[in-house]
Amino acid sequence: METSNLNLPEIKNIDGIDTLFVHNKPFIALGGEIHNSNASNIRYMEENLWPNLNDLNLNTVLIPVYWECIEENEGIYDFSLVDNIIKNARLNNIHLIFLWFGLWKNAESMYIPSWMKRDSKKYFRAKKKNGESLNTISPFCSEAIKKDALAFKNLMAHIRDIDSVENTVIMMQIENEIGLLNTDRDYCDQANLAFNENVPKEIKENFALDGTWQEVFGEDAAESFMAYAFATAIEYISSYGKEEYDIPYYVNAWLKQFPWFAGSYPSGGPVLETHKIWRICTPSIIAFAPDIYVPYVPYVMDEYSYPGNPLIVPEVRKDAVTASYALYAIGQCNALCYSLFAVEEYSMDPAKVSKPPLAVMQALNIDPTAFDIEGCKPYISKVYSVIKEITPLYLKYRGTSKLKAFVKKSEYDHGVLLKFSKYDIKVTYAPRQPFKPLGSGIIIEVSDDCFYIIGMMCSIQIINKASENLKTDIIKLEEGEFIDGVWTPIRILNGDEKMMINLGDITECRYLELFKY
Ligand code: DGJ
Repeated sequence: METSNLNLPEIKNIDGIDTLFVHNKPFIALGGEIHNSNASNIRYMEENLWPNLNDLNLNTVLIPVYWECIEENEGIYDFSLVDNIIKNARLNNIHLIFLWFGLWKNAESMYIPSWMKRDSKKYFRAKKKNGESLNTISPFCSEAIKKDALAFKNLMAHIRDIDSVENTVIMMQIENEIGLLNTDRDYCDQANLAFNENVPKEIKENFALDGTWQEVFGEDAAESFMAYAFATAIEYISSYGKEEYDIPYYVNAWLKQFPWFAGSYPSGGPVLETHKIWRICTPSIIAFAPDIYVPYVPYVMDEYSYPGNPLIVPEVRKDAVTASYALYAIGQCNALCYSLFAVEEYSMDPAKVSKPPLAVMQALNIDPTAFDIEGCKPYISKVYSVIKEITPLYLKYRGTSKLKAFVKKSEYDHGVLLKFSKYDIKVTYAPRQPFKPLGSGIIIEVSDDCFYIIGMMCSIQIINKASENLKTDIIKLEEGEFIDGVWTPIRILNGDEKMMINLGDITECRYLELFKY
């Protein structure tokens, strides 16, 4: 099917900012990812998934496609689950990002079809130094990679045939949290041979160094070697899909984190430290996306959003603070996608929501409060609604000195002083409270004296420019809301309500006009 004449979802660089376009219009994916197994049964989804996504103001849901389900018998493809998911997404007026659970998921090969699981000779696994096999197909097993690529090719051809006009599916994530756990590299025979050879031409040229992996990368040799192995495998798989249906593809990363050595997080995955190798090897991948479960979410978003790597957050904590981080992800990092994990839980009885064991969370340096979702639904629902409505204004001012975003980044971070053309604005964050968002927001200077303020859990004060001997006061302070980028005032705030501009725990919007005397 010819698609070159269609407006497929694509990434365009607008004034230096990579922007996702859907139906030829800028689109910010405000989403949620579902639990791993919840897309494996049509009836389960109809009873437990789609009804639980209502009133969250999502416009995108991230849903797995399982290789074990679409190719149960080798060479025979069954897309009934995919068709049902696309049908229901359309009925719910929601876009999709499909997660291709193929060869590798959380550093394991748990979604490969049974016929591949059973043939461990042909489809060999990675090995530790002691010869022990991991439950991970080796990225040096070209036969397995060819099979994955073929399955992915058929999946993308099918999506093209049923969705290249509607564009319900807007992006694809290839595999999930790639890499090897509990070893710094693959020690199978094929890997050992490759490891002792000189680095490939593209590595030699881009790093301006020659020699073996050990000679070129020293202590980082094992992880760099695995990054090259996985990245070249991903590019092979991705290229098969793109031949059929060229929409944006990305990969996600299990972050490098405590205790910091390769193998304590998946060695070879697209963590920040291996982006240079991944970028060299994966021209068809538009972004390396962080799954963020660590306590320092804004720092990670700042690190993973840079020219050539637009921010996609496929998974992030789902407690109240995630509403604060959503605003920052868009306002400060120009995220293409912000998506919290296990989104269907917001509508479930909290008593039925399972949390990882505390010991596991501590071992993985996961902040246990990240799973405190009680009462959080209104925060994310409102902030997603506000982000949608301010999008035209955001697109107009993003990337300029007129738009400034902020978020409380730690318990010691009490606020920020924002310098605009004629006024300075002091933002003071409310102290952190359990089950509440954090201070965060966006302030847009629409003219020298006029501002829109969008945010939560903070107070706003206007500060005179130190260089002037003038005072500042308010011409008008309105509370209100945006409707498709247009300000719609509610009350005019004056008297007691003008003494301090306080924003509560549910995202609020203000219009502020000032003068000097
Ligand atoms: C990150 C993975 O990408 C998800 O699929 C899931 O396993 C979470 N970790 C933990 O629930």
